[in-house]
Amino acid sequence: MTRVFSGIKPTGHLTLGNYLGAVRQWARVDQHRTDALFCVVDMHALTVDHDPARVRRLSRQAATLLLASGLDPELCTVFVQSQVDEHARLSYVLECVATDGEARRMIQYKEKAARERDRGGSVRLSLLTYPVLMAADILAYGTDEVPVGDDQTQHVELARDLAVRFNQRYGQAFVVPRATHPKVGARVMNLQEPTSKMGKTDDVGPGIVYLLDEPDVVRKKIMRAVTDSGREVVYDRVARPGLANLLEILAACEGGNPEDLSGVYESYGALKKDTAEAVVELLRPVQQRHKELCADPAYVEEVLRLGAEKARGMARPRVDAAYRAIGLLAG
Ligand code: TYM
Repeated sequence: MTRVFSGIKPTGHLTLGNYLGAVRQWARVDQHRTDALFCVVDMHALTVDHDPARVRRLSRQAATLLLASGLDPELCTVFVQSQVDEHARLSYVLECVATDGEARRMIQYKEKAARERDRGGSVRLSLLTYPVLMAADILAYGTDEVPVGDDQTQHVELARDLAVRFNQRYGQAFVVPRATHPKVGARVMNLQEPTSKMGKTDDVGPGIVYLLDEPDVVRKKIMRAVTDSGREVVYDRVARPGLANLLEILAACEGGNPEDLSGVYESYGALKKDTAEAVVELLRPVQQRHKELCADPAYVEEVLRLGAEKARGMARPRVDAAYRAIGLLAG
């Protein structure tokens, strides 16, 4: 059976981008047709300036939201990265296979490091090694497919390169994974800055729809989305990025194509209104289930405990084998 692995980082509240680009696909498609693991990658949240209590809180919230989005522990494994030692164990070994040049070439590293420096802060070494830990997440489970938004493609490519290199040098240990993306929604943009990704750690709140935003807040954010001064509603990502983003969000909610919506609307206002209502309806069941799960934190804890146990059992033999292959006296 195809093995799927994907993860989400608790650095902020989950967004519509996370949902449309990744989580919805995990819940609707991947968990049903594959042997899938979904992970709250809390160790990745320590790569930038962080508050320990907030990371713990956001990790629990992310896990709860994954379940609220429809991940079913009977069908897939849901767990928290730091509860499975194999991720860190394998990451070190992969650091001995990756080069510093490879890590420095990563677009997200360059962007985030520049942002930290602009703020007058220093760049944590773990920000540089971040994609190696991500490769460990993926490779530890013999993953075939990694369902992610567009922004993670380069990181998955690195995981592929490291798997191939390790296998060539030290013997066959890893499956070579590939990234998969949803047809529509793989890159949801910030509503106020439609040339930048809608990211959970961004400062521009009004441009980000969070999964737990109240319906009226969602409506307000979408109605105020930046568009351009044109009149015709046509889909053109380069010339009309704000409009294209709304068309994509609406198409993703309705399961259609943004191109097909070109020409359907006579005004931006009508498009915004329909998009807002579609997003409100999309989020309604997730928010409802989230509320129910918040009333039962012991259930969520138990799902995570069992998930970590299962994940450990899956990862350990492969990581042990990699340790032995690279020359360590592992048990
Ligand atoms: P993270 O936490 O930034 O995002 C989680 C998932 O959501 C997708 N995503 C988006 N998709 C469309 N539009 C957007 N605006 C948008 N924003 C986020 C991301 O592509 C991702 O699929 N490095 C990863 C976490 C990670 C991981 C892994 C993923 C760590 N180890 C192993 C897969 C496999 C990250 O920061 O995702």
